[in-house]
Amino acid sequence: MNVVVRIAEFREACDAERAAGRTVGFVPTMGEFHEGHISLMRRARAERDVVAVSIFVNPLQFGPGEDFEAYPRDLDRDLSMARAEGVDLVFAPDGLEMYPEGEPEVTVDPGPLAGRLEGAIRPGHFRGVATVVAKLFHAVGPAAAYLGEKDAQQLALIRRMARDLSFQVEVVGCPIVREPDGLALSSRNVYLSAEERGAALCLSRALRAGADLVAGGERDPRAVEVAIRRVVETEPLADLDYAVVVDEDSFDEIDAIERPARALVAARVGRPRLLDNLLLAP
Ligand code: PAJ
Repeated sequence: MNVVVRIAEFREACDAERAAGRTVGFVPTMGEFHEGHISLMRRARAERDVVAVSIFVNPLQFGPGEDFEAYPRDLDRDLSMARAEGVDLVFAPDGLEMYPEGEPEVTVDPGPLAGRLEGAIRPGHFRGVATVVAKLFHAVGPAAAYLGEKDAQQLALIRRMARDLSFQVEVVGCPIVREPDGLALSSRNVYLSAEERGAALCLSRALRAGADLVAGGERDPRAVEVAIRRVVETEPLADLDYAVVVDEDSFDEIDAIERPARALVAARVGRPRLLDNLLLAP
């Protein structure tokens, strides 16, 4: 496994693979790997000749008072996990390499989708995500990028960016990996106490209650949202941010569930904000 820390080296390595006729599957991450990240690497491994992974905790996407400094980091552990998955190339730059002049003046305007839901609660977050992902895509070059449905709004935004800005990248969405009891894996789950860990299950439980309603014939997204909200609100340790049903493709709010839709929920449980979502198939 080749580990590089310079953008130029990363670009050269990806160019060389393509020149040799090999396709590159790219997995952007902030490290602290768990089975969710690993599932993306396995999918890329199965579908592409070369697997490239980036590990960079991107300061641009953290707001003031968020957990940028405290974000868990363990590069040695991440590298050995990547090696075990047969990853070919890891790009692990530091902040100076990515932003040599400090915060960039020119950034990617992530458009209206970035002002809603996560973007409404975390102003500037998606501008930071879109900007770093654009930089990474430029370095990798033509490739397939593997992203988790766990961060469904981020996935929709990156799809949109690739389309609107003509990146030669196929964006592949991959299913959420969960603990056996339903909790969606997240690097931030390490912040949960044992009691909060139990309380955090209300997110996946709430989404399942919503999906059960749809399976039973409910087509009113507002009724599904109310059912989801009710489950989260009965958990005293959870503080709900939003529970919404949006169109799976456009991410717009909808008046009826007639096509695939996605239920999204976000809540603070103890210190971390947790996200979860589920596809609703009418
Ligand atoms: P990070 O939080 O490290 O996540 C990297 C990728 O792993 C994302 O595509 C995310 O959706 C996916 N992922 C996380 N938990 C998952 C789970 N339980 N199941 C499946 N996939 C999961 O997302 C970021 O980093 C950053 O915003 C990044 C895109 C790297 C830009 O900085």
